[in-house]
Amino acid sequence: MPARPAPLLALGTALALALAPAPTAAAPADAPDRVLLTPTATPDTARTLTWRSAPTPTPLLQIAPAHDPHDITEVAGTTTATLSGRAHHTATATGLAPGTEHRYRVGDGTAFGPWHTFTTTAGTDDPFTFLYFGDIQNDITDGAAPVVRAALAAEPDAALALHAGDLIDSADNDAQWSEWFDAFGTRTATLDHLAAPGNHEYSATSLSARWTPQFPGNGTGPTTGRDLPDTVHTTDYQGVRFIVLNSNYRNAAPLNTTAWLDTQRRWLQEALQDNPHDWTVVTFHHPLFSNSPGRDNAPLRTAWLDTLEEHDADLVLQGHDHSYARGNLTANDTADPDVHTGPVYAVSVTGPKMYDVSPGNWTANGARPRVQLDRTQTFQTVRVDGDTLHYTARTADGTVVDAFTIDKDGTDKTVTDTR
Ligand SMILES: [Fe+2]
Ligand SMILES: [Fe+2]
Repeated sequence: MPARPAPLLALGTALALALAPAPTAAAPADAPDRVLLTPTATPDTARTLTWRSAPTPTPLLQIAPAHDPHDITEVAGTTTATLSGRAHHTATATGLAPGTEHRYRVGDGTAFGPWHTFTTTAGTDDPFTFLYFGDIQNDITDGAAPVVRAALAAEPDAALALHAGDLIDSADNDAQWSEWFDAFGTRTATLDHLAAPGNHEYSATSLSARWTPQFPGNGTGPTTGRDLPDTVHTTDYQGVRFIVLNSNYRNAAPLNTTAWLDTQRRWLQEALQDNPHDWTVVTFHHPLFSNSPGRDNAPLRTAWLDTLEEHDADLVLQGHDHSYARGNLTANDTADPDVHTGPVYAVSVTGPKMYDVSPGNWTANGARPRVQLDRTQTFQTVRVDGDTLHYTARTADGTVVDAFTIDKDGTDKTVTDTR
């Protein structure tokens, strides 16, 4: 956007604030940072913003429709934590118009960061694209960020980024969180982010103190169970129900694993059963079918697999194994070797840390990987368009390493390899 002329202030404070260009000078040290957009339970009409700043008694969000930029609504923020000398704030704007570009900025009522824009989801199932990222986690700036940047460049119109856990390596290492935010740049503020916590977001049995301040729950999750109200949730997003689960039974619930996973199973069943949309995308960190036999997650499979299959979740997007795979239950194979029915289970990794792969844990549990790759950093694009969903996994240089299409015709569904 070209810089607007200087005499803006003469237009009146509100209009000037609304039309002021994003500052180009270096931001002051205490300027808001880590601005992150979260879709809420009702992304047609509401967004949650989280950000950090120097401690302030008056965190504030200003938001306006892009086509009427002086129609600013102010939302008082809440300070949720103060960590590493920075105050984390959250504010939720409600009553927004669906399918409408908005501009917003955050600050303390006097000083603000730059304006950002995003578009609320349409109240219909208009086509949209989202990105799926496996573990970013290690060597973020040099090793993972190039893949993130390639994804953002390849899909500039993506609406949402889904993160299947292990965003960073050490739960409360503030420098690593800075690297994660820097990898996305301003796109943390302009793209919806939906994230499941991984084991590296835990320190022993404690969830990172930064998790909920940055990735707040939206009130749709279970009301009981350690960490579940904050980390488990659903959002209905332009024809897709996204469901985020917490698979960290070893960390969050080492002493009551079965009950903790069963709480999520009951909640998952309701979320799948009540889905008013054609599509379901479920994400959590630890895969139901591991790419390394020694990394089995049997309690998760016992707790969740039947429910996902029974309700025919479309995509189950996971991480943790530091390799790539995509497959299905062999019971859902068809006579056509390129076609199956039922859910798709995927594992991916964004960052450079790699483990060896083997199909053993899949085949020992009634499934098979249709694609399985080691030492391959990827990003995934998912395009949802009416009765069809297109999935593509690519490396940073654009090489397609996996692709399939899901087609729905009434109650019939087919998943077709298109590599
Ligand atoms: Fe990991
Ligand atoms: Fe992990």
